[in-house]
Amino acid sequence: MMRYLRHFIDNIKHKIYIFAGYIYKNSVLKNLYSGKHITRLNYLGRLSVKLLDFQWKSVKLHINNVCNLHCKNCYHRFEGEPMGQRQIFLFLDEVKKVIRNDNIRLDILGGEPLLRKDFMEIVEYSKKRIKINTVQLFTNAALINDDIAVKIRDSGVDIAVVPMHSHIEEIHDSITQCDGSWSQAIKGIRSLIKAGIRTYGFIIFMSCNVDTLKELELFVRRLGAKPIFFPYIKQRPCDDLWVDNRKKYHRSIDFAFKNSDKHTGQMLNLIYFRKKACPAFVNSITVKTDGTVTPCPFVNLKLGNINEQSFDKIVYDAYCNSRLIDFLSIPEECKPCSCVDICGGGCKAFRYQVYGDYKSKDINCSGPYKDKVAPSRLGEYIPYFF
Ligand SMILES: C[S@@+](CC[C@H](N)C(=O)[O-])C[C@H]1O[C@@H](n2cnc3c(N)ncnc32)[C@H](O)[C@@H]1O
Ligand code: SF4
Ligand code: SF4
Repeated sequence: MMRYLRHFIDNIKHKIYIFAGYIYKNSVLKNLYSGKHITRLNYLGRLSVKLLDFQWKSVKLHINNVCNLHCKNCYHRFEGEPMGQRQIFLFLDEVKKVIRNDNIRLDILGGEPLLRKDFMEIVEYSKKRIKINTVQLFTNAALINDDIAVKIRDSGVDIAVVPMHSHIEEIHDSITQCDGSWSQAIKGIRSLIKAGIRTYGFIIFMSCNVDTLKELELFVRRLGAKPIFFPYIKQRPCDDLWVDNRKKYHRSIDFAFKNSDKHTGQMLNLIYFRKKACPAFVNSITVKTDGTVTPCPFVNLKLGNINEQSFDKIVYDAYCNSRLIDFLSIPEECKPCSCVDICGGGCKAFRYQVYGDYKSKDINCSGPYKDKVAPSRLGEYIPYFF
């Protein structure tokens, strides 16, 4: 009985989201990273932004260029001079002014963020001075013990995300190219959980773990962490970490879709509003270590540099950037697809790494589709969601 009731409520909720998303639709391609820049939208667009601008916005800030591991999958380019503390604080001051939405999440990445000496000061400034709603740390956890975990919590980190590549030590260590990294990650995860930090095991599905996702998911849950999933974003045309078998890839997306707990529900709600599976620039923006601003961490589409221009101006000018417009637009071949209003072309970064173009649909897609797809079955169809 309860199951049917929940199903009924979910269906009504999704109808409301679809309707809200319909109003929102006109605005999305003119992209809404900052609700402040809505003057270029038509009346309906402006109204819908005002009504619906409660979704989270994330800033992915890369704070350093050093790491204790050498992961084969890593997108980070260890180059350029990292921003100084003052520059980061000035940027954070601006973030709060540019994004008027209160629901901001600061993602701290690198390199390995904990190797930056002033890491705690950066978190404290974000959380206590700027009053950023949520601070999420991406860490390999190798440097974390019980004492450090408590300090991380006290500085203001709300969420920790730790990559877990396999439940088998040798496989995990072969990806990080560091013996002992698996045991260190497990120890770190346990300390983070003990300190009371919400901790996720980040499962990036690659050729080395795609056949054991269920075991890996259970392993992460047994550690006391929650699993979240993400596809490996290909880094070069010949890349043996990519799941190049279309059936297996789709099975992984479907598995991720059905096993990401609350995450899937939140993503679905967002997807219905933003009309795209990909959050880049609509909900999220990336700042690389040297201050370069891009829509997503995986692409080298430069929108500006916060050392040279204000963040406000970078976001404003982005509305006229033709490469960004290609990156955000719906590919021609997707237009007849029954999933287009939810998927919007999938992940463009993936495709760009291989073919160097932003205009075509996701490389992993088997569509366009004709069937009307129920929300609970989306994972079987769309090539990407986040
Ligand atoms: C660049 S790392 C930096 C933070 C930290 N050192 C860590 O490993 O979590 C940020 C996250 O992106 C993930 N990542 C790196 N390269 C990726 C790729 N090509 N595709 C998907 N995820 C990737 C990493 O596993 C990690 O969880
Ligand atoms: S630990 Fe993180 S930053 Fe370091 S190499 Fe691995 S993915 Fe890249
Ligand atoms: S499912 Fe495939 S064809 Fe349909 S919108 Fe997404 S990428 Fe395009």
